[in-house]
Amino acid sequence: MGSDQGASDMTDHAPALRRSRIAGLGSHVPPWVVKNDDLKQWMDTSDEWIRERTGIVERRWVERDAGVGGSDLALSASKKALADAGLEAKDIQMVVYATLSPDVHFPGSGVFLQRKLGVPVGAAILDIRQQCTGFIYGLSIADQFIKTGMYDRVLVVGAEVHSTGLDLSTTGRDVSVLFGDGAGAAVLVPAEDERRCLLSTHLHADGANAEDLWAEFPASRHHPHVPVAMTGALEGRQFPRMKGKQVFKHAVTRLPEAIFEAMARNGATLADLKMLIPHQANLRINEFVAKMMGIPEDKVWNNIQRFGNTTAASIPIALDECRSAGHIGPGDLVCLAAFGAGFTWGSALLRL
Ligand code: ACO
Repeated sequence: MGSDQGASDMTDHAPALRRSRIAGLGSHVPPWVVKNDDLKQWMDTSDEWIRERTGIVERRWVERDAGVGGSDLALSASKKALADAGLEAKDIQMVVYATLSPDVHFPGSGVFLQRKLGVPVGAAILDIRQQCTGFIYGLSIADQFIKTGMYDRVLVVGAEVHSTGLDLSTTGRDVSVLFGDGAGAAVLVPAEDERRCLLSTHLHADGANAEDLWAEFPASRHHPHVPVAMTGALEGRQFPRMKGKQVFKHAVTRLPEAIFEAMARNGATLADLKMLIPHQANLRINEFVAKMMGIPEDKVWNNIQRFGNTTAASIPIALDECRSAGHIGPGDLVCLAAFGAGFTWGSALLRL
């Protein structure tokens, strides 16, 4: 694929547009720690199998039947991001909310977050469905609105509650052991200094493999969208299903492509990079990519061991954690990269 396809940046021919920067970050995970061995109460699995194949040791899940949706986790993450940016909810002009596990079938979760957080009535609220690549798509969208001058303060959120929608029987164990719940948020504002900004974003998709990682219900192509006899009659088609080997194969191809694309676009090399923050799908995917590209281990931030795969939330949680731990700071070059269902993939290069 041509390096410019799906890329978003200033070109030589366009008038200079202003840039955006991340002014605040925040994240939140629910308090219930589910260890690999805890999963044995539902399915035939083992700590050894999960650690060896995925790197995951534990994940956070919302309490059962407590009515907690992704927007509740997003609320806590967003409050922290706003405080970090020195802003209040009333300052936000647009919310871009990325999730594959919305609170309800419709409307999108963004309006629930708007109401709970106190984002002004009349603000623009956009829900997006790019799964594991959702946060990078969200950053790119926010960046475009800021570049054109339409908005000055955009909240980008990635939030997921997977645990209430997993097949916890042995049949679903290949997928269910992977996923955790959580949320991450970033506040984007115009960059005062052109050297410290979101340098470029690169967005891609290929629908050829859409059914390799998906959940089939609720589905408008079926009547009714949610059949009354949910379990049994659906034979598990309401749960996420995945062709794991296919996903692995595509992920380890697309992630390096997207990372190199971001580097090439900005005339940067991997040596310039302070940290690669990849989507946390599987530790083995990230290790494979880093090894293939020659990126040293200490330049790749992984936290899937503690949180599992939180899909759209994984990059903002990791970015927030990495910065809070002092591993990245002002002036550092950071690359974000993701691959997920769709398939979708992409990257973002930023100088903090
Ligand atoms: N516990 C114990 N055994 C299990 C489990 C489990 N949780 N899941 C599967 N198994 C068994 C299978 O039943 C199978 O047994 P069998 O040989 O008797 O039939 C055996 O383990 C091997 O199963 P495979 O599915 O072939 O396992 P594989 O080695 O491919 O690993 C995995 C599965 C880890 C999911 C792998 O395919 C993978 O890493 N795929 C990448 C996809 C990924 O990480 N996706 C994350 C979400 S998508 C995203 O965010 C992009």
